[in-house]
Amino acid sequence: MSNQRKILVTSALPYASGPLHLGHIVEFVQTDIWVRFQRLRGHQCIYVCADDAHGTPIMLSAREQGISPEELVAGFLESHTTDLAGFDISFDNFHSTHSTENTELVQGIFHKLDAAGHIARRTIVQAYDEKEGMFLPDRYVRGTCPNCGTEDQYGDSCESCGATYAPAELRDAVSVISGTKPVERESEHLFFRLENFEIMLRDWVTRLPDGVQRKLEEWFESGLQDWDISRDPPYFGIEVPGLPDHYFYVWLDAPVGYMASFKNLCERRDDLDFDEFWKPDSEAEVYHFIGKDIVYFHCLFWPAVLQGAGYRTPTSVFVHGFLQINGQKMSKRRKTFVTARQYLDKLSGEYLRYYYAAKLGAGVEDMDLNLDDFVQRVNADVVGKLVNIASRCAGFITRQFDGRLAQQLPDLPLYTRFADASERIAGLYEGREFSRAMREIMSLADEANRYIDEHKPWQAIKDPANRDAVHGVCTQGLNLFRALMIYLKPVLPGIAAASEEFLNAGEFRWDDVATPLLGSEIRKFKPLIRRIEAKQAQAILDVPTEPEPDKPAAEAADKHISIDQFLEIDLRVARVIEASYVDGADKLLQLTLDAGEEKRTVFAGIRSAYEPEQLRDRLVIVVANLAPRKMRFGVSEGMVLAAGPGGEDIFLVSPDSNAKPGMRVR
Ligand code: MSP
Ligand code: ZN
Repeated sequence: MSNQRKILVTSALPYASGPLHLGHIVEFVQTDIWVRFQRLRGHQCIYVCADDAHGTPIMLSAREQGISPEELVAGFLESHTTDLAGFDISFDNFHSTHSTENTELVQGIFHKLDAAGHIARRTIVQAYDEKEGMFLPDRYVRGTCPNCGTEDQYGDSCESCGATYAPAELRDAVSVISGTKPVERESEHLFFRLENFEIMLRDWVTRLPDGVQRKLEEWFESGLQDWDISRDPPYFGIEVPGLPDHYFYVWLDAPVGYMASFKNLCERRDDLDFDEFWKPDSEAEVYHFIGKDIVYFHCLFWPAVLQGAGYRTPTSVFVHGFLQINGQKMSKRRKTFVTARQYLDKLSGEYLRYYYAAKLGAGVEDMDLNLDDFVQRVNADVVGKLVNIASRCAGFITRQFDGRLAQQLPDLPLYTRFADASERIAGLYEGREFSRAMREIMSLADEANRYIDEHKPWQAIKDPANRDAVHGVCTQGLNLFRALMIYLKPVLPGIAAASEEFLNAGEFRWDDVATPLLGSEIRKFKPLIRRIEAKQAQAILDVPTEPEPDKPAAEAADKHISIDQFLEIDLRVARVIEASYVDGADKLLQLTLDAGEEKRTVFAGIRSAYEPEQLRDRLVIVVANLAPRKMRFGVSEGMVLAAGPGGEDIFLVSPDSNAKPGMRVR
């Protein structure tokens, strides 16, 4: 492709000191959708990330657990990559800042900055914990606010009056680590002279989204300060070359981790050249996706460091807001802190990808994961609208037309409307307006469903004269489904892959929408996704508890039922007289049964495994004395027995064919 773009994309590097939570996943899903979209359009789009492994909290956390920082970091690298795979995040590489590539790059960058006069050396006074033998970052000193007298405040600012100050100004200060009173001690630190880059930065920030620029404007107003980039030992970090007992501050080495991860990838990939992406006049594009809390680091320090060290600067930085759960900040105390693992233990990552897409825009607004809304939204859109189109058309093609699509579309203008939406939807993806893209796509899905409703293939097929028409309608329906699935492939990679398999015409590319699929053979349709049960969704909030101790034997015995209890269940042989779909219920089939006496109606949740035609005349076992249950569609008078976990794997229990309807089963 001649206008193929070369794009490098990153998500912020999660700290290697804790598990990923659903807030992190917002960022990974947002980035991944954008990356997959670019690839689907035929561009070269490389997506790298890494764990952020250095810094005081990680060092202390390892110490507390009695392991080395290396061990701590290795454990979380494993857990992070496993969780991210659960959300189908399509990295080209996931590396670590604790790596040789990062050490070399950071030290090289420092040399260049120093040689160009961008590094200052100054002796500073810091709080020092004599018992622990370490300098204390501001957050590790607490005491009484010198301004308003509120107790137990951090060493840098007061949560009560908002004053900012130095730790030494706190009254009754104590070290959070040892509880002893800190003393003041001097040491020499390295500073990056940010102000040297003011002119360059004022120009560079104009490429950022508006909302982000306004924030930066405030920072320019208050003046760019020197940035302290070194730390004293003990510290888990990268050593300053030629300066013993000095480590680089974690926030200097972390963004370099983007380059390190890419470099590590280049070593394995002949088609990628590090310099081609990072040289000053590079034509490749580089984008960072980050949350709103780390803008200063990415939009001031980082471009200045890159520029000062002779590398290109990022093409842009895309900033998102924070995730709340059920309207509340994520917090362990409120039980709204949900780890990625807690979610994945209950639900497929694909559901959350869709929900996030349906809520994400290009701005920095916070976003709420409301669990009721989540269930409703995913079930209505993905299961009810999207997948429904395919499941309503596929069976006819397979059974009536040897699995072959018709040669023509009966409603070409309708298809063309779908194809013509291509550039509009692409524009929304490109601009990260995912929620608007989802709305466009779902309104097309509504149109597709209306089309099928109007043409009712399940009725039309009863008259042999309509065969060709039904063939056309189902071919049309499947082509509309295919167009929608191509548009949704960046968001729903798993369902898209299953659809590619089903449509049997290779991997989707964005431009495939222009040409409908005609005359070719498709494979048997398998249910693509299941509805979410509200209970499953609520269960992600359950904090994992200790496994229950084994129940005493006496209690276990209570799980038996007596023979009398068993005989109370009236099981009967029944014959299916009629089976049909239920409008508005995509899991149910309506069965009319002959169980010896008068006919009875049963609604059975077996639609994902059976087509109505397969059931006519079949013998089944029915629970005949189950209390009738009023449902939205009518009254269900009993239940048919089936085995299996659900979905496609539901197996009706049937007696031998010479059993007679009405016979009692025991
Ligand atoms: N390690 C740094 C980033 C270094 S990048 C060179 C860091 N790590 S983090 O684990 O705290 O956050 C990683 C990313 O997740 C950040 O972009 C952050 O904004 C984002 N989020 C963390 N909590 C979040 C929410 N509750 N909601 C949405 N994003 C959130 O910062
Ligand atoms: Zn105060």
